[in-house]
Amino acid sequence: MTDAPDLVHARYRDPALLGGVAMNPVLETILRHSSCRAFLPDPIPPATLEAIIASASAAATSSNLQVWSLMVVEDPARKARLAALAGGQKHIEQSPTFLVWLADLARLDTIARQNQTNVEGIHYLELFMVALIDAALAAQNAVVALESLGLGSVYIGALRNQPERVAAELGLPKLVFPAFGLSIGVPDPKGTSAIKPRLPQSVVVHREQYNATVDLAALAAYDGRMSAFQQEQVMPDERWSQRVISRVKTPESLTGRHRMREALASLGFVLK
Ligand SMILES: Cc1cc2nc3c(=O)[nH]c(=O)nc-3n(C[C@H](O)[C@H](O)[C@H](O)COP(=O)(O)O)c2cc1C
Repeated sequence: MTDAPDLVHARYRDPALLGGVAMNPVLETILRHSSCRAFLPDPIPPATLEAIIASASAAATSSNLQVWSLMVVEDPARKARLAALAGGQKHIEQSPTFLVWLADLARLDTIARQNQTNVEGIHYLELFMVALIDAALAAQNAVVALESLGLGSVYIGALRNQPERVAAELGLPKLVFPAFGLSIGVPDPKGTSAIKPRLPQSVVVHREQYNATVDLAALAAYDGRMSAFQQEQVMPDERWSQRVISRVKTPESLTGRHRMREALASLGFVLK
């Protein structure tokens, strides 16, 4: 077992960190996270999936509204169609189970209708944000749970490239938004799995008041650490700060998601 200072250091590769916190299995699972993009075909046992979903349900949820739902996709043909809609990412087809996390205001609407009530609040942007936050918190609990069981996963934001077509594929009613996917399964030991360094705490943490200047030296150090990481992984070595700029440089760089307002409107979200 690696001790805590090593895992904290591995997460940032930043010598300025204090370290020294005692390790426990929860910290170790969280600090060791890495996305998995190569899976064995082994199915996930139903009881394991149930425990993963229970962990998702255990996440905090705003006002206990629980405005998220989960779609479990295991049909190979459907996974292939979803992969095609998400930029052809092969791990969607390769993983035995593909989860789609849904921001779901339809259930609340249905409950209200069954009570002969209209719920105007669900048509406000705030409730959509609540549903997205709930879905993300649930999903991340699932990721920690499955990684603690030796499984792997990768989030699929590209599922939002064509939200209307994904919604049609999954038979989603109005007011249900496919927020992101998550491929899960047993990691293929031949795949890579390494702890990707994150921005230094000095860059992401503010104390008392926001500091609008970005510490250029710390940023350059991070670019260097990411560059070393990319080389270790035999991946293209593009500077991190350049890569994030190009990811948002033009509307087209958003890979179809620049029309999100229009997509949301057609899925029934008013967003007042
Ligand atoms: C909401 C979300 C969407 C993501 N979408 C994708 C995706 O479509 N394809 C992919 O390969 N990775 C995707 N990722 C994974 C990120 O690329 C990955 O988490 C990031 O590079 C950090 O690497 P790590 O998870 O291995 O530490 C996504 C992650 C998040 C949180």
